[in-house]
Amino acid sequence: MSKTIIISNRLPVKITQQNNEYELQVSEGGLATGLGSIYKEGDNIWIGWCGLDVPKEDESRIINELEKENLAPVFLTEDEIKLYYEGFSNETLWPVFHYMSTYAQYDESYWESYKQVNEKFRDAVIALAQPGDIIWIHDYQLLLLPQLIREKLPDTTIGFFQHIPFPSFELFRLIPWRAELLNGMLGADLIGFHTYDDVRHFTSSATRVLPVQTNANTIHQDDRNITIDAFPMGIDAKKFDALSKTEEVRLINDNYNEILGDTKIILSIDRLDYSKGIVQRLLAFEKVLIEHPEYIGKISLHMIVVPSRDTIPQYRDLRDDIDKLVGNINSRFRTSAWHPIHYFYRSFPITELSALYNRANICLVTPMRDGMNLVSKEYVASKTNEPGVLILSEMAGASKELIEAIIINPNNLAEMSNAIVQALEMGKEEQQTRMLSLRQTVLKFDINHWVKIFMDQLKEVKELEKSRY
Ligand code: UDP
Ligand code: G6P
Repeated sequence: MSKTIIISNRLPVKITQQNNEYELQVSEGGLATGLGSIYKEGDNIWIGWCGLDVPKEDESRIINELEKENLAPVFLTEDEIKLYYEGFSNETLWPVFHYMSTYAQYDESYWESYKQVNEKFRDAVIALAQPGDIIWIHDYQLLLLPQLIREKLPDTTIGFFQHIPFPSFELFRLIPWRAELLNGMLGADLIGFHTYDDVRHFTSSATRVLPVQTNANTIHQDDRNITIDAFPMGIDAKKFDALSKTEEVRLINDNYNEILGDTKIILSIDRLDYSKGIVQRLLAFEKVLIEHPEYIGKISLHMIVVPSRDTIPQYRDLRDDIDKLVGNINSRFRTSAWHPIHYFYRSFPITELSALYNRANICLVTPMRDGMNLVSKEYVASKTNEPGVLILSEMAGASKELIEAIIINPNNLAEMSNAIVQALEMGKEEQQTRMLSLRQTVLKFDINHWVKIFMDQLKEVKELEKSRY
């Protein structure tokens, strides 16, 4: 029977080491949490890195452990983690693709390692692939992989999905290895992005950089047709909906209610990342406290920042900036009984997240750029009793779908702080009308819908391609 092989840099579980014992933990980040419920079906398998530099002698132990979960690890050495993962993936591609090109490093050794690790992933795929299998590659760490697999398995069905934005040509052209990256992606039969803007940017870059022809959403290269389309990713909405109604979550919420009383909670949840607009959000919150002292003692910002990539200088600096700003705001406005900001620098179990989503009066999602942003959808799916208000950056892919949110530009502090006040003042009826509509979107266009439309189109374009010969 044919299977689907999912490949991403990071597996949906990560391995941590505690006193010589290895432990499995759920990975954070949209890709892992979004596809986490899909890969266990049938013989499907997910290939990726387990997030740790594992000593050679322990590799087989980890392979056996992961095999039980339909997972196959790719092991990265310390050098590969530094040059391919932290380097090319997160110091070159991530900043350019998120329009922060001044942070980008164009380092030949990063590029060499990126190529070599993409080849390592290719070998892992080839070792497991059988004729008829469908190969589904995810995200910017593996842009070369579709073509590397195509060279070895020319007839295989290959889908590629990018979870982060594809920038406009003026940004993308800055990368010295732009042609190689595009050629790598074009090894796929179907290339998916979250939004039509990403599709447009990708197609425009491909036609300017490479000798290819385009026709509507098809790129023609070397006698192959490659389809490019938008598939806005959904979440496991039923899971979040059901979770928020469980006894466990209710008990956590009772506890919150006891501690917080009538305080209105503004919730923010992100990985530590300069693309998330965390500093801008804090400044907007501070502006509300300065301009509306009547809210002092009555509102709190509950801010979760999940540690991420903190060996990279810009991430470390961002953490320091956040620490300082939170300290300043708290020391300036706090009273003996009240803190304006409850700041947590760690990750939380899903039941805690569910309780917070359910309890929060406002969810403040303000990225400077974001491929999709699943937190905004998880908030909506968790709002099963009381409504609440979603404030969402227009720079997040999710803003194209969640149009009943209060949409803001994160560079506009006045607009952001006005949006917070508007949300605090919004009547129950308007909250309910907006939330109902948002919930319909999130529950209907969920993760299962996303997987189905991508897979259906992948099979369809492959059939069409075969019928040409
Ligand atoms: N998340 C998590 N643990 C936490 C906080 C967040 O697993 O303590 C998850 C969150 O539920 C969401 C994901 O991390 O599914 C973040 O995805 P998003 O698309 O918002 O941003 P990304 O991290 O992919 O840039
Ligand atoms: C985003 C990316 C994913 C990545 C995740 C967490 O969601 O699209 O590819 O896995 O962030 O980042 P990390 O560097 O920890 O894998």
